[in-house]
Amino acid sequence: MLTVTPITPEQTYPLRHSVLWPDKPLDYVKVDNDASGYHYGAFLDNELVAVISLFLENETSDGHPARFRKFAARPDRQRQGIGTQLLNHVIAEARRMGATELWCDARLDAADFYRRFGMAPVSDVFYKGPIAYATFSMSL
Ligand SMILES: CC(C)(COP(=O)(O)OP(=O)(O)OC[C@H]1O[C@@H](n2cnc3c(N)ncnc32)[C@H](O)[C@@H]1OP(=O)(O)O)[C@@H](O)C(=O)NCCC(=O)NCCS
Repeated sequence: MLTVTPITPEQTYPLRHSVLWPDKPLDYVKVDNDASGYHYGAFLDNELVAVISLFLENETSDGHPARFRKFAARPDRQRQGIGTQLLNHVIAEARRMGATELWCDARLDAADFYRRFGMAPVSDVFYKGPIAYATFSMSL
């Protein structure tokens, strides 16, 4: 059975590293404000199979944004609905915390996944190294 629970930033690092940036040093996948974020893990039979990190940002006159980062499912567990459950959890958590907008820098090869949640691009394409991204956003 799949369970989604809060985890520590340190617990996210192995999957962030092996799935997202395997060619970079481990420190590359740490985020400066990890300590102030909310980190969630999907566990299947007590094994951590997917991670995601949520960051609440300062409220502005336009609303209260939240951002998620470093979303990664173990390759042998991708495309089995786990990422959907984890992102739905983060959407609910962001709403519960009062966020009115949720955004991420999305790898373009995952863009169709984000479109399923009603997220849409709000930026031009940009690159981090060789990987193409766009900022995707949704109202909560
Ligand atoms: C993106 C990711 C987190 C999604 O998690 P997941 O568990 O694989 O997603 P799900 O199984 O819940 O996918 C739901 C649907 O979206 C589809 N989907 C998943 N990843 C997709 C992708 N990259 N592009 C297009 N569709 C995708 C699935 O096929 C599935 O479709 P179906 O219901 O018709 O079978 C995961 O695939 C992953 O870790 N990918 C590699 C790292 C990555 O790209 N992370 C995001 C960085 S922005």
